Amino acid sequence: MRVILPSTGPAFPAIIPPPRLPEPHVTEPQADLIHARYRDPAIAAGLEINPVLETILRHSSCRAFLPDAIPQAKLEAIIAAASAAATSSNLQLWSLMVVEDPARKSRLAALAGGQKHIEQSPTFLVWLADLARLDTISRQNQDPVEGLQYLELFMVALIDAALAAQNAVVALESLGLGSVYIGALRNQPEKVAAELGLPKLVFPAFGLSIGVPDPKGASGIKPRLPQGVVVHREQYDPTLDPATIAAYDSRMSAFQTEQRMPDERWTQRVIQRVKTPASLSGRHRMKEALANLGFELK
Ligand SMILES: Cc1cc2nc3c(=O)[nH]c(=O)nc-3n(C[C@H](O)[C@H](O)[C@H](O)COP(=O)(O)O)c2cc1C
Repeated sequence: MRVILPSTGPAFPAIIPPPRLPEPHVTEPQADLIHARYRDPAIAAGLEINPVLETILRHSSCRAFLPDAIPQAKLEAIIAAASAAATSSNLQLWSLMVVEDPARKSRLAALAGGQKHIEQSPTFLVWLADLARLDTISRQNQDPVEGLQYLELFMVALIDAALAAQNAVVALESLGLGSVYIGALRNQPEKVAAELGLPKLVFPAFGLSIGVPDPKGASGIKPRLPQGVVVHREQYDPTLDPATIAAYDSRMSAFQTEQRMPDERWTQRVIQRVKTPASLSGRHRMKEALANLGFELK
């Protein structure tokens, strides 16, 4: 017997036609975006740019926000972009906490090294690596959940959360909003979990302050390592020419001067970041924190 299900929502076309992609084009200001990203004379000129690439290449973290609230429709569009990200085996092992209560944002800011932009941005998003939902689904079906206790599943959830978040960042920047990731949210994971009422098997991976950028705090495009350093072909090449890294230090130094930031050598900064366990700002005890949050990581 053929069962005809009642219609539960609006009728969508069976096949949504693909969007008409804009023609790639190169104009001087857009071509400049690639040069701004690398400041590397070796990078080819005349690369093809389209509006999507333009949004991505224009990225810079925003740490100064106007008090304007983000309209619900925009937030939903941003979250839809997050949901559109690829997800391992369609497991969808991420969740999102939206925090707008000023008192809660202040408490979270205090847990994340006192970063003022957490309080200043109208909306603070916490991206969650979430194994609890699949745990519940399996248990409701009276099935074992042994696989959830392996490091692999935690990694899958973390990757899913990161991919979703970055899609959200691209989306919100395309809407003229700004954001900054907050990794410092992992300084004290158990306290953050308690503040957000997270059940076991849900890990607050990182935060994201989002809002309307304050033009007075606008920052430029931060140069990245040259492609020759980060791209390997066929086999990993472990050689690293100190002169290439020194050249990047100089580009970062020029950027910091332009931005009126303290001139701190990039090399020194990254070395400091891994020098001792204390350099990890409390995150050296991550395995212990994860165990406390229910992750066995076998
Ligand atoms: C996972 C992650 C965590 C981050 N955590 C912080 C943070 O706690 N505070 C902060 O001000 N910026 C944070 N950032 C922003 C980085 O400092 C920034 O992306 C990097 O310096 C490059 O600058 P740009 O994003 O402006 O290009 C984080 C970025 C990522 C991806």
